[in-house]
Amino acid sequence: MGNTNQKIKFYSGENIPLELHKVRIVQKLHLVPIERRLEALYEAGFNTFRLSTKDVFLDMLTDSGTNAMSDHQLAAMMEADDAYAGSQSFDRYQKAVEEVLGKKYLLPVHQGRAAENVISNALVKKGSVVPMNYHFTTALAHITQYGGKIEELLYDEAYVINSKHPFKGNMNIEKLEDCIQRHGVSKIPYIRVEASTNLIGGQPFSIANLREVRAVADKYGIRLVLDASLLGENAWLVKQREPEFKDASMKDIIQLMTGMADLVYFSARKLSSARGGGICTNDVALFKELQPLIPLFEGFLTYGGMSVREVEAIAVGLYETLDETMICQSPQYIEYLVNALDRKGIPVVTPAGVLGCHVDAMRVCEHIPQTAYPAGALAAAFFLISGVRGMERGSVSNQRDEDGNETYADMELLRLAVPRRVFTLSQIKYVEDRMTWLYENRHLIGGLKFVDEPPVLRFFMGGLAPLTDWPEKLMSKFREDFGDSL
Ligand SMILES: Cc1ncc(COP(=O)(O)O)c(C=O)c1O
Repeated sequence: MGNTNQKIKFYSGENIPLELHKVRIVQKLHLVPIERRLEALYEAGFNTFRLSTKDVFLDMLTDSGTNAMSDHQLAAMMEADDAYAGSQSFDRYQKAVEEVLGKKYLLPVHQGRAAENVISNALVKKGSVVPMNYHFTTALAHITQYGGKIEELLYDEAYVINSKHPFKGNMNIEKLEDCIQRHGVSKIPYIRVEASTNLIGGQPFSIANLREVRAVADKYGIRLVLDASLLGENAWLVKQREPEFKDASMKDIIQLMTGMADLVYFSARKLSSARGGGICTNDVALFKELQPLIPLFEGFLTYGGMSVREVEAIAVGLYETLDETMICQSPQYIEYLVNALDRKGIPVVTPAGVLGCHVDAMRVCEHIPQTAYPAGALAAAFFLISGVRGMERGSVSNQRDEDGNETYADMELLRLAVPRRVFTLSQIKYVEDRMTWLYENRHLIGGLKFVDEPPVLRFFMGGLAPLTDWPEKLMSKFREDFGDSL
């Protein structure tokens, strides 16, 4: 496996990420004129989820299901064993889970949130409390769906946007102890830790912290559940940032992490592949408790709602997750973009995490109150002036409380996802260029309001509208500065 700690130096001294793969299949992109992008925004209710890719130039909405697949994954998909039950593709998936994640028992599910549904259905009851480093939207929605609540237990530094702390995803151990004592062990079905904590900017936890969480779980006899959707990247950052592991293999780091969890689940749309998911454990009793829910919600136990081709791709992708030349690609591009914007004084989450570059909308749009959704406004404005589709990760992505009141997010972020091995460096430089222009013209961005608000996971399909004609004014300024450029 390639060792990226042996850095590739340029004679020129330039510090840029070098791709250790080549492109063999390409997809044509379309950069439509700004006038069409404005129309598309209105059609999509100023919600980037609702844009059609025919209007999108660089799709940085998410890395979920959009990572490039390898030649080996595509080859394996052709050999898939199409069977309702007892498919050999599942055997290969199970073997990969055992060899890479170190877990013997595997339950296939169609994607990450399906795993969350199954786990919450089995373990969460009315009045349950699930302590976690931080929520992910779908994890929270499933826990609350079954009558539970969550408590987010990060250290204060996690909320500091511009920071040098290497492990902002660490769980606060004192708060964890306090949470358990306040609610009592019987109320806590499990502690959830999320690798490369998504909603605070793809920030990892350290092995030292996970060891402490495990010790607390052991002290009180509470299960530990690991959301491993972004496990490979968390492991890679452990190798870069936690001195004890600088010479460790990816496999050793990954198995140290999964070995501390009683139950591991993942979205294979992120971990290893572009579709699917799984739940795995070495605890046979727990496995048996969850097992009946798979045929009920997902499909038979050897496909879990996935096509066998997807199952094959996950298996190969799990082994590839151990290859540092593959897993480092997205974090290195993100680091490049984050550092380039940071050098220009554009507020971004630092240190660079995984998954994407996170722009701090609360500061870029200081003039927009949280009631007018600054991160949603920044996402819309950036699409308008660049054709680059990012994702709002702020109050629009939050859900209302039990009484129907708005809950404002701790951070208002525009996430520009960088899926693995998808974009080129000149495309990343285009993002840097257009974000620089937008930052200089940020006073032209205005707020948004909901005009159509779904009751659950509203950010996916909700419709918003601008509070004024700011999009038209922003477009005029673009034309003034860029002439007839796309
Ligand atoms: C940390 C984390 N957990 C769970 C999920 C849900 O996975 P899926 O989108 O496959 O349902 C995601 C998806 O982005 C995620 O980032």
